[in-house]
Amino acid sequence: MRIAVIGSGYVGLVAAVCFAELGHDVLSVDSDHDKIALLRGGQVPIHERFLPELVNRHRGKRLCFSTSVTEAVDQSDAVFITVGTPQSETGEADLSFVEAVAQEIASAISDFKVIIEKSTVPVRTCESLRKTLLLNGARPDSFSVASNPEFLREGTAVTDFLYPDRLVIGVDDAASASLLSSIYRPLTDGSYYRQESAIPFVGYAHAQAPIIVTDTKSAELIKHASNAFLAMKISFINAVANIAEFVGADIEQVSAGIGSDSRIGTKFLNAGIGYGGSCFPKDVQAFRVVAEHCNYEFGLLTEVIRVNAEQRSRFLKKVRNALWTLRGKRLGVLGLAFKGDTDDIRESPALEIISVLLKEGAYVCAYDPVAIPKAKEVLDTNRIFYATDPYTAASGCDAVLILTEWKQFAQLDLEKLRSVVKHPIVIDGRNLYRPQEMARAGFVYHSIGRPVAIPECMSFDGESDSMHRESAIRFATTG
Ligand code: UGA
Repeated sequence: MRIAVIGSGYVGLVAAVCFAELGHDVLSVDSDHDKIALLRGGQVPIHERFLPELVNRHRGKRLCFSTSVTEAVDQSDAVFITVGTPQSETGEADLSFVEAVAQEIASAISDFKVIIEKSTVPVRTCESLRKTLLLNGARPDSFSVASNPEFLREGTAVTDFLYPDRLVIGVDDAASASLLSSIYRPLTDGSYYRQESAIPFVGYAHAQAPIIVTDTKSAELIKHASNAFLAMKISFINAVANIAEFVGADIEQVSAGIGSDSRIGTKFLNAGIGYGGSCFPKDVQAFRVVAEHCNYEFGLLTEVIRVNAEQRSRFLKKVRNALWTLRGKRLGVLGLAFKGDTDDIRESPALEIISVLLKEGAYVCAYDPVAIPKAKEVLDTNRIFYATDPYTAASGCDAVLILTEWKQFAQLDLEKLRSVVKHPIVIDGRNLYRPQEMARAGFVYHSIGRPVAIPECMSFDGESDSMHRESAIRFATTG
């Protein structure tokens, strides 16, 4: 199949590369000439596992790059739209990039094409796409429009694409259904997974990817509703964490207990400093506006957003409670990205928290395995320094803050960490450690939805004042 993918951002680039991996001839298009030059040279502008290997496996063979929509439409049977749909001032998705691409596609169509919307868009976008194509001169019999939402996550984008929980295809006609089914056939018949060169997957994966065929509007709704539901799961567990914290329960035990009900599931029940990234914050807002346009007030989503914002301020309170005053204090911060395994800092809770700490007069020494260059572009102050490893970041600090769930932050050499800090206080926004493990290693350990853990050897005056207003548990110190 000849495929054009218009837009080489996260979703577009991963989709283009993976379509080539499935055996299709792909032209990946972006208006950014520098990005296309980089990709043509084999360089990948985003940090994503397996992407560099796959770009280089297929570049110049089944995968080419271009800045021309006209060329891409001309050479393809299927045209995927994967341009950005940023949040507008009113909270709804700004679809102007989608519209502009649709106008360009309309003037380039000569023979029959299926135009597939893959960006995250509000319900009824396919309808508007169809109208725009017609308004701009495309003949009604020269195209059909379909929706094929993408569910990949940053950090695991390639394996999410190739080993999906399900594929969703929204079609209103047989031609689109048949074309999309054949594009994904190597996944739905399992033949891709039997190839020796297939990208490996660790864990459970379907032997044949399940495919769900719906009408276009339902497919569009599935995407927004999925992201809103996942965000709701996170806000729900964070709300429960706040109760657990007050009564001295342990949210990790609560979450495991809730999640083992197969109707609920354990995933996305990790309490922390709230969700961030380029998707959930924008999509929950946009879905709420979609509801408004349907004369429905989706109050549940308003609460999801509120709990998420509150989670940041509650964490900041923890820092203030643990350190008393912040002016002049030195904080070692582990994590800048909005989650682990990515260099993406968009809507990162870590950055929001750091900005407040800096405003309140603290000095920050931050470390992140890959997100430092991007953070440097936005955190412009002379009170933030960047370290080359977690221990240098923590060196001489009044407290260590864990803000991103990188695996390596869960595997620190605690003895080494203890030896470099000024005061042994860890405030963990991602619950990466067991409280008693940290107390045994000599740290006062604050986390989310769990009692503060205090090494037995430490005694604070007025500790009943609740080690700073949270329930606290003492643990014997070893070593
Ligand atoms: C999310 C969805 O998971 C994807 O299915 C979807 O395709 C994508 O948005 C999109 O619409 O493009 P992503 O934003 O890459 O993917 O990241 P997630 O892994 O979903 O994490 C989002 C945020 O939630 C992160 O800040 C993460 O730290 C936080 N999170 C996640 C929690 O706080 N707790 C959890 O249990 C899980």
